Amino acid sequence: MSYQLPGPKTRAKLESGRDLMRHGLRYDSAAKASAARGFIPPAQILVGRAEGDFVWDLDGNRYIDFQNGWATNALGNCHPEIIEAVHAAHRRYGYHWEHPLRFELAQKLADIMPAQQLPRFTFEVSGTEAVESAVHLALCYTQRRQIISFTSSFHGAGLGTKVISGYTSEHNLYMEPWSGGVIKAPYPHSENIPANMTPQQYIDFCLWYLESHIPNYIAPADNIAAIIVEPGLAEGGNWIPSLDFIQGIRRICDKHDWLMIVDEVLTGLGRTGRMWGIEHYDVVPDMMVVGKNLSGGIEPCAGVAARDEILGDNPRASAGSTFAGTPAGCAAGLKTLEIFERDNLVLRAQQLTAIAEQRMAGWTERYSIVSEVRCLGLLMGISFAHPDRDQMPDDYDDSWIARTVRNEMLINGVWAICDTEPTVRMYPALNMDKSIFVEALDVVEAAIQTVNKGGKLVGDYPSIPSGVTGF
Ligand SMILES: Cc1ncc(COP(=O)(O)O)c(C=O)c1O
Repeated sequence: MSYQLPGPKTRAKLESGRDLMRHGLRYDSAAKASAARGFIPPAQILVGRAEGDFVWDLDGNRYIDFQNGWATNALGNCHPEIIEAVHAAHRRYGYHWEHPLRFELAQKLADIMPAQQLPRFTFEVSGTEAVESAVHLALCYTQRRQIISFTSSFHGAGLGTKVISGYTSEHNLYMEPWSGGVIKAPYPHSENIPANMTPQQYIDFCLWYLESHIPNYIAPADNIAAIIVEPGLAEGGNWIPSLDFIQGIRRICDKHDWLMIVDEVLTGLGRTGRMWGIEHYDVVPDMMVVGKNLSGGIEPCAGVAARDEILGDNPRASAGSTFAGTPAGCAAGLKTLEIFERDNLVLRAQQLTAIAEQRMAGWTERYSIVSEVRCLGLLMGISFAHPDRDQMPDDYDDSWIARTVRNEMLINGVWAICDTEPTVRMYPALNMDKSIFVEALDVVEAAIQTVNKGGKLVGDYPSIPSGVTGF
């Protein structure tokens, strides 16, 4: 039986957010506009408890967790060993900057970096800060003023990272003067291909744009410090770049003497079925940004790994806020890496991926609303498009279908993400129990089947993460 969401306790809490939280008012107005179209309200939950592969909402309803703290709890929810390691660090050090665990974690990270060629590490609290730190480092190291980033990319929510990200044009509004040093280039994913171009032609175009168009018409090559790229367009919809594209970026960086920064905040530490997403491309970057999973899902820990010469002695490259590399964060990172090795988590992620690939093969043929299914490891995305899109009204949006599928999943006990893009994104823990993983995939397919038959859509409610506000 499906859950009636939100349950009474969740609803009461969410309603209290109307007067307190960001978007408290926006939700109501969007909900009204949406209802006028005949859409049903989206289901939302607040986590009352979390453990292993599951979360429970405030009303006690249980969900298999394919949301995973926005792809952060690589070892599942509330892993007891990480919690113990974090508590032990708290008991022993409280908070101090000058503690030994940061040295130990830096060593462990150096050992597992691609080709062991990024031996130095600088700590930050969040992925956002780490990206900003990486870009600042690149500018100071090269003594150049511009960088290249990609449209559809997401690098964080600080002012610098908002400007570096290319999420949507709306997201850039009012920050135009702040983005002077950032050159945006197109990222070739299949939702973005101009009419009459093949995917390969578009990849070639995107590489040509980087290699020739930017240096010829936008900024001289010797004023560009770096290209920053996600080796898996995560928040942008779990798109998986081609070998050509990522290897092409490395070649162009070498040719123009630009640094290659890979943002592995979401793709790193096993998410893609390799320790690092970039390992799928046989490319060694000059810098790598790490976050999310390094926390073990318990205590923030992030930072930037770099080649020796970039981070060894760069006097202008200041970094690290007060809580960067806390004892507890480093303890979480150390214990996480220990468990990765001991429990062979990358292999376990690959085993789950094989199950998912087999299960999802054929969904695009079987269900007319499914336009594409993607898995790079457990970076899993299902994109949706209306089969008669050309006949839909001008303001029609395929994300309505995706949101409806995600809604259907949630009321049937699987929690996943659908943001602004027409994609349901799924991030199971790397150590999820196989039978629970299969049970969740059953729910995903049943949700697609239901929506494929037609019916009411969830519609254009604002893309608020479940439970932040509204009801
Ligand atoms: C690729 C990427 N970079 C950076 C960030 C920002 O990380 P944080 O939210 O920890 O600041 C995110 C967050 O989702 C991300 O996906």
